[in-house]
Amino acid sequence: MSCCLCSLLCPSVLWAAIIGGAIYFLKIYMQGGQFKKDTDETGKVFIVTGANTGIGKETVREIAKRGGTVYMACRDMNRCERARLEIVAETNNKNIFSRVLDLSSLDSIREFVAGFKKEQDKLHVLVNNAGVMRCPKTLTKDGFELQLGVNHMGHFLLTNLLLDVLKKSAPSRIVVVSSLAHTRGAINVDDLNSEKSYSEADAYSQSKLANVLFTRELAKRLEGTRVTVNALHPGVVDTELARNWAFFQTNFVKYFLKHILWPVLKTPKSGAQTSIYAALDRDLDGVTGMYFSDCKPKDVAPAAKDDKTGKFLWEESEKWTGLVSSK
Ligand SMILES: NC(=O)c1ccc[n+]([C@@H]2O[C@H](COP(=O)([O-])OP(=O)(O)OC[C@H]3O[C@@H](n4cnc5c(N)ncnc54)[C@H](OP(=O)(O)O)[C@@H]3O)[C@@H](O)[C@H]2O)c1
Repeated sequence: MSCCLCSLLCPSVLWAAIIGGAIYFLKIYMQGGQFKKDTDETGKVFIVTGANTGIGKETVREIAKRGGTVYMACRDMNRCERARLEIVAETNNKNIFSRVLDLSSLDSIREFVAGFKKEQDKLHVLVNNAGVMRCPKTLTKDGFELQLGVNHMGHFLLTNLLLDVLKKSAPSRIVVVSSLAHTRGAINVDDLNSEKSYSEADAYSQSKLANVLFTRELAKRLEGTRVTVNALHPGVVDTELARNWAFFQTNFVKYFLKHILWPVLKTPKSGAQTSIYAALDRDLDGVTGMYFSDCKPKDVAPAAKDDKTGKFLWEESEKWTGLVSSK
């Protein structure tokens, strides 16, 4: 006993305990806003894109616990099915389905929507979650720069093709997972597809700014329909998002920086809280065109309030995705 006391009072043990405790409380503090309200989602239909891992998977898990029917829209069916089985086993909710959706292919998006509409005539919440970050320059199957193509253009087409069923199911919601990175973004009006020059960081920020501009423009277009649309920043979350970012694959990051950053990163479960809040909180009925962070409203960057650019982006997106001619 006295030996134990001695070692506790020994300065190095004391310091280790203080530092350990401080790191533990910092980690808890950094988890941010949590959605704690009870809701029953039985009978409601959800689509979550990019649902096999990270924030999307945790979003599905929470909706499944609350009884919702969820379509997990993923490009990799093996990973999607593994995630689905895990969630079904944990929640005992059998109404969780995996379906193929590759947001880098307009054909795949159209096929997904056609298949969904054959199975369901209702959709209460669409969560546009899937995303890629800081990839080397790559084009989608339709020739779009990948980050703009997946993060914005793919979701633009998906959302528009699902609007009829969302309107029929109103009150219904669209949740757009954007990022704080939108504050560093600019819409490159003269070179939207990054053909003249390409920066991995700028293309990501542009795509996340596009998410917010899309949300605000769509909110205006949906006035009076009882379909709401809101965007959000999930926080800085420990997921696979940086997998294409060369710097994050270096040993320096893997064996040093990641451990240093660990206390300030949100877990995927905490990262999903603002998506769950935007999708489920009844207090948000009728709330539209907003941006949330840590389960509360947050102001957007001045560039995200530029309605002229929002309209430009909408019209370009209609042309790129073939939405105008297909209407
Ligand atoms: N993590 C953060 O700190 C953070 C911060 C701000 C915003 N966000 C946003 O949060 C969202 C979720 O990211 P995350 O952090 O959870 O990253 P993640 O773990 O990498 O998950 C991204 C998901 O998107 C899917 N995806 C990628 N390309 C796709 C495509 N072409 N078609 C369909 N699905 C595709 C991925 O599928 P595969 O597994 O098959 O690749 C994966 O399921 C993204 O929109 C991201 O921009 C994240």
